[in-house]
Amino acid sequence: MKREMIIAGNWKSNGTLALRAEINNLLNDTNIEQGITVVVCPPVTLLEGMISDNKNPSISFGGQNLAEYGQGAYTGEVHAQMLRDIGANYVIIGHSERREYFSEKAEILAIKMLKAIDAGLKPIFCIGEPESIRENGEQNQYIESQIEEIIAITGIDVWAESILAYEPIWAIGTGKTASLDQVQEMHAHIRDTFSKHSDTIAALLPILYGGSVNQNNAAQLFTAVDVDGALIGGASLKQDQFAAIISAANAEANSN
Ligand code: 13P
Repeated sequence: MKREMIIAGNWKSNGTLALRAEINNLLNDTNIEQGITVVVCPPVTLLEGMISDNKNPSISFGGQNLAEYGQGAYTGEVHAQMLRDIGANYVIIGHSERREYFSEKAEILAIKMLKAIDAGLKPIFCIGEPESIRENGEQNQYIESQIEEIIAITGIDVWAESILAYEPIWAIGTGKTASLDQVQEMHAHIRDTFSKHSDTIAALLPILYGGSVNQNNAAQLFTAVDVDGALIGGASLKQDQFAAIISAANAEANSN
């Protein structure tokens, strides 16, 4: 069974109304092959406007975070139903920047996942090892424990509705991309780890690669059998680069 391919852009804390208009225009005119979903995750200030101005049914939108709480007196928070209410379908959870700067641990991330699923949002759940772990050759154990600690709380079933993004921390925003072999090996390891809980979920789980994906390396990364797309930071803010990455996904879809 062929898995869907997902090209997701994480704008992080970047983006203005001008950029929103630019990327909306680009996406409205972009051909996207069947079996590919493009997901744009702008900052929450731009999300509703982007969704309203979108005319391309192959584009979906997501939040970059959600509250661990529901509706109520939680000043500054945006909860899952609020994202759904404006038409978002996805939400990024567990990005290494949130783990590092906002001290988000598995317990909180699991609550966020369950809240997202309950509201009908698909989590894009991020994992990835720091450079020191990779240098010591301990990345497989590290990633396995990141997966096991979250499944221990959420259970396996919610993963049938989720997407996983492997983002080695040393490759995020550094221009250092993991090699094709490193990516394929890790994605296969991630799938094996899930298959200890459910072969079906493991086989269907979209696993995205993130970490300095750009117009020069995307096509090659998409050839790996266990790479089902990308989670893109910097290059998703540049019209020409994001368009080139979508073209690489289209070419890969057409070659199958
Ligand atoms: P870069 O593509 O800028 O390395 O960022 C990757 C990322 O963190 C996406 O979530």
